[in-house]
Amino acid sequence: MSKIRVLFVCLGNICRSPAAEGIFLKKIDAKNFNRNFQVDSAGTGNWHVGQLPDARMRQVSLTRGYELTSRARQFTAEDFENFDLIVAMDNSNYANICKLSNNPEHLKKVTMMTSYCLKHKLTEVPDPYFGGEQGFHHVIDILEDATESLLSSLIIKHKLEG
Ligand code: 4NP
Repeated sequence: MSKIRVLFVCLGNICRSPAAEGIFLKKIDAKNFNRNFQVDSAGTGNWHVGQLPDARMRQVSLTRGYELTSRARQFTAEDFENFDLIVAMDNSNYANICKLSNNPEHLKKVTMMTSYCLKHKLTEVPDPYFGGEQGFHHVIDILEDATESLLSSLIIKHKLEG
């Protein structure tokens, strides 16, 4: 079976999307679905390309049980071909992703992270970059909620067996 390719996208690829990637990977691993998935993250901006996730996000994530080791890269139009599902953190990410293609098959792949949330009634994952530590915990709370139901929905949709 071909892998389900999931790409998480935020602005800088140093806070929200690498955390989403790390949390989703841990859930996949816990359910023994590693062979079924290819997971990555990217930013619509290029300021932090090559960098590890923001030190505050790495620290808070570690206290929550997630080690974030990805390196930032910029989202490109090729990602529409290389991934099955492209998950945006906020409305601006969503718009910037969609600007890079006018192919309806590509645009069908783009979804909002908060659309998977069951516990949080939010329309965007807030950008924690300019705030305090609590904002990073809040982002992780939202991402744990969203990735749990995203994984459940993909397990059902693709009839995966761990
Ligand atoms: P992210 O957070 O999009 O969740 O990675 C940000 C990272 C960097 C900046 C803004 C948001 N920045 O302005 O450099």
